[in-house]
Order: sequence, then C-alpha cells, then structure tokens
Amino acid sequence: TATSSPLAEELKKLSLTTPLPKYPNCFPEFNPVDIYRAHLTSILTEVTGVDAAVVYPALQWTQTLEKGDLVLPIPALRVKGKKPLELGEEWIAKFPSSPLVHKPTVDGTFLKFFFKVDKLAEILIPSILKRQTAFGQNPLLGLKDTENASKGRKRIIIEFSSPNIAKPFHAGHLRSTIIGGFLSNLYEGAGWDVVRINYLGDWGKQYGLLALGFEKYGDEKALEVDPINHLYELYVNINKDLTAEKEEITKLESEGKDASHLKNEGLDEQARRYFKAMVDNDEKAIAQWARFRDMSIKRYKETYARLNIHFDDYSGESQVKQEKMDFAAKKMEEMGVSEVSEGAVIVDFSKHIKGKPGKSLERPIIKKKDGTALYLTRDISEMMQREEKYHFDQMIYVVASQQDLHLKQLFKIIELMGYPELAAKCQHINFGLVHGMSTRKGTVKFLDDILRDVGEKMHEVMQKNQAKYEQVENPLATADILGISSVMVQDMSGKRINNYTFNMDAMTSFEGDTGPYLQYAHARLCSITRRAGLAPAEVALANLSLLTEPHAQELIRVISQYPDVVQNTLKTLEPTTILTYLFKMTHTLSSSYDHLRIVGSERELMLARMALYDAARVVLNNGMRLLGLTPVERM
Ligand code: ARG
Repeated sequence: TATSSPLAEELKKLSLTTPLPKYPNCFPEFNPVDIYRAHLTSILTEVTGVDAAVVYPALQWTQTLEKGDLVLPIPALRVKGKKPLELGEEWIAKFPSSPLVHKPTVDGTFLKFFFKVDKLAEILIPSILKRQTAFGQNPLLGLKDTENASKGRKRIIIEFSSPNIAKPFHAGHLRSTIIGGFLSNLYEGAGWDVVRINYLGDWGKQYGLLALGFEKYGDEKALEVDPINHLYELYVNINKDLTAEKEEITKLESEGKDASHLKNEGLDEQARRYFKAMVDNDEKAIAQWARFRDMSIKRYKETYARLNIHFDDYSGESQVKQEKMDFAAKKMEEMGVSEVSEGAVIVDFSKHIKGKPGKSLERPIIKKKDGTALYLTRDISEMMQREEKYHFDQMIYVVASQQDLHLKQLFKIIELMGYPELAAKCQHINFGLVHGMSTRKGTVKFLDDILRDVGEKMHEVMQKNQAKYEQVENPLATADILGISSVMVQDMSGKRINNYTFNMDAMTSFEGDTGPYLQYAHARLCSITRRAGLAPAEVALANLSLLTEPHAQELIRVISQYPDVVQNTLKTLEPTTILTYLFKMTHTLSSSYDHLRIVGSERELMLARMALYDAARVVLNNGMRLLGLTPVERM
C-alpha cells in the first residue's frame, strides 16, 4: 500500500514527510512516477479547489519530454467561467515550492510539469536496481480487488499460434505466436493468472486422408526424425492422388462411363470412413492419429522454446466434445438462432440483427447436410468448454484479420444463444498479412525454416566484423538468437493491423530500428558493466546527485517512463508501444556514451554513472523480455 514502510522511508529521505494520500490506480511502490502524480494531486487540489478524484486521473504522461514529464489539460478540471490560460496563470501564482517538481508553466491549454531530476534519480534508480526483473511490472493490476489480495487474481485465457497439423506453419501462425507470446507476458507481469492455449487444427476428414497417406507413402524412420516435414510430405502426396482421383471421376462421367467404383471405394470415401472410425473412437485409428499429433506437438514445443514460449494447454479442434456440440446445437435451435436450410443447419444473421450489420455477418453453416460439424461449430462448443474448465474473466483470440468475420460470427452466436456475459469477456486481437515471406530455397513451409534462414543470414552479417566475431564465445548460438530477434522486431514494429513485407536484409541490419540494433544496445551496456568491474554493493550506494549533465538527466527521465509505458500497453495491446519506447530509450542512450564516460572519470562519478547505466540495462532487458526476445550479453 501507499504508506508501506520502505516507501515511507524513501519519501522521508526526500523530506516528503506527509504520507502520500491514496488514489485509485496509483501504485507508487511499483511506479515512481505515481509518487509525482500523488504529490501533484495534493498540491493541485489545494491550488485549484478541484476534487482529487478529478485531478488525479487528469494528469497525463507525455511521449516527448520537451512537453514536460507530466501535463494537465486545464479544461479537464472543468472549472467554469475563465479561460484555460487565465486559470493556469492563477494556479501557477499560487503554486507552492516543491521538492519534487519545478513550478509549472502554461502551454496552450496545458499545465506542464517538469520533475526535479536529482530527486527523480534518487527515487528511481535505487528502485530499479532493487527490483531488477520485476521493474515495470505491477502484480496488483490483475487482482480482483486491488485493495484485497485474498480475493484472488483475475484469469485470462490467451489463445494463440494454433497451427494445423501436417500443414504449413504460415506467416499468420508466426504473427499469432509472436503477438500471443507478448500478450501473455504482458498480462502475467500485471499479475493476471494467464492460461496459454494452443488450439490446433487437428481434426476432420483430412486427418483420415493423412492416415491413408501414411499407409501408402509413410516411412517410420522419417517420421521419427522429422515428423513435421514428413507429415507434410504425406499430406501433399496423398492430396495429389485425391486430385487425380477427382479428375478421373469427372473424365469418366463426361465420357458417360461408370465411375462408381472410384466413388464408392476411392480415396475420398476411404478417408471419410477412416475419419468416421476416428469419430467412433476406433482404437487403431485413434492411436495412429494421436501419434501424429503427439509427435508434432513435441516438435512444435522445441521451436516455441526458441521463442521463449510455452503453452499450458494444447487444445484443438479434436478436443471439442460431441456432447458439447450436441448441447450447443440444441440450444441454438431452442433459442431460434439456427434454422434448417436445404438440409443443412445455418444461422441467418439478417433475421436476428436488422439492416447492414445483420447482413454483414452473412449466413454461416453450422452443420452440413451429412451432419459434419464445422470450424465455427467447434469454436462455439470449445468456448463453452473453456468457460466450464477455466472460469476465466477474459479471453483473447490472437488470429489473423482474415478471420475477422469468423470471430464476429462466433461472438454474436454465443450472445444470441443467451450468453451475453460470456461473449463480452471475449476479444479478438487481429493482425495484418505478411507479404513475401520466403526462404532462400523457395516458399516457407515451417517456422524452423524461417528461423534457420535468418540465423544463417545473421551469421554472415556477424562475420563481416572478424575482430568482434572472434570474441563471441558461441557465434552460431548468438547468430540464432539475433536471427530470431530480427524476425520478431520486424513483426512488432508497426501496428498489428498493418500488413508488412518480409525483408531479410532490412531486418538483419545493425542500422535502423532493428532487432540486432536493440541486441547491440543491450550487449554494449553489459560490456560497460563488465569492463568497469565495480562492485554492485558499491554502485548501489552511489551519489546520484552527481548526474547533472543534460544527457544523464534526459536518460533518467526516459527511464522513469517505463512503468507508464507498460501500463499504457495494457490498453493498446500493441507490441509496438513497447518497441517504440525501447528505441527511443536506446537512441538517448547511444547519444549519451561520449558525454557520460566511466573509464577515466573520478571514482564517485564512475559509481553514479554505473548506477545509471545499470538502471538503463535493467529497463532494456525487461522490455526485451516482455516482447519475448532473449537479450544477449555479448555479440
Ligand atoms: N487453426 C486455425 C488456422 O490455421 C486458427 C485457429 C484460430 N482459433 C480459433 N479459435 N478459431 O486458420
């Protein structure tokens, strides 16, 4: 709480003896800037006569520090009868002197506040060095009641990645994986109980066909060695046969010949029967399918680990229970949501929602003529299953924007079925396309291919600087990590919804806002720490008031924004919010080095600067790990 003793001690040192008042969403022990918000609120309520409940939330952080560390839009206080400028000037005249902030200034309709940076450093840097990896996180945000931890944490399900077994892992799956991993870290850092679900495409007639492919072309050894590629090969081959069969049928029929043997005994019919056996829980059929599934998951897990991602549950279309689908079908019928049309069951949204909105949701099929459930049907039942199993407070589906309609239909059907609260807890986080993603050998099929390629490319880039290259202990492993960072940073650079073009040369460059640039900034900070060789205990006691240069002050102020940036990211749910900040921070950092040297400085100054660089390293490291990157110490 705001008056807990370590913080109270800190504040006393700053001669702020009055205990900080408490405000909702004010967490001074996790976010040093909240100390300023609370402090400014007490002053401003005095000066303006406006209630603290109005003042506190009106204080905004700024993207560019020239605008101040915090600003107050004067009209937000809703004081009637005077112009903002007039009010601002009145308030400034009454503004008492403060140990934390300079006297404010008016800028248009804003009051601008600049922090006294010496005090900021004293509050901020020790708190970063103490909290280390936890700095930027706020475990109270995920509590059901932030005042009472015993009420428990909120639970969020994040469904992401969700590839289809035996099919290519395409760019859409890659983006879902990157964004979903990031969102999971974000909510975890905010104290939520996060359940990561991978909803595999692993069911349907095509998996009957795959089993036939294995009977015909399968190679036990190849399956063991590389299940993902082998299953894909089988899938491609058997689909070729299927296409040939279809062509043959068309040909025979056009010639007026009998095609019934192909229709009754051909591949398509065999696949249908095989899948029917799977549905009926035939032991052999299920065992074969489960083996393909398990082997694929095992291999996926290895790849996900390289991206620092794990899942709590490998669910999938196969895991949706028949009873649940029967129940959902009955419910939809009872509620008048679904109807029979030409032998199939459909939902005609134009009958439930008037005008354009209803029309735009179209008329999806829920059950085909032959009784097979579809993708949408499974999603409906899966959502209900998850509600029962996890009692979640919120659920996010990280799926490409190509499936916008599908998810809108899903959420609307759940609502129409009589579960508006369940629908309201669900959110689709979508993203745009990646153009031109291909390996050097051709089009991409699997994530491993992309990662191998960027790793190789990065290795080439590293070798261009032989002197440095020779110092890296394990260059191949480092190249691998740098390659992964390249792909991820390029993916997270723009807003999610934007399409982008996969550009291997641009993403692996050290110039510009790239993954390697960010990694380099981190490695450089690590190298400064190594070379200075100062004892952390001594650095912790550094005299921070020596950090008086403009570059040092700018860096301190940028670093102080990190917890606010993270909190803002919980609103935008955009990785680029973090990434943009990290680039701003690393640019400030790289222009500081010449001005804030350690080697050759007085010992006291060395310690103070080391403390600042350590704090910068902690923030960069935390931001990178939040994005899912693995920060390297040398490169
Ligand atoms: N497997 C699907 C695909 O590759 C994505 C699944 C998205 N999630 C969902 N609940 N429908 O397109």
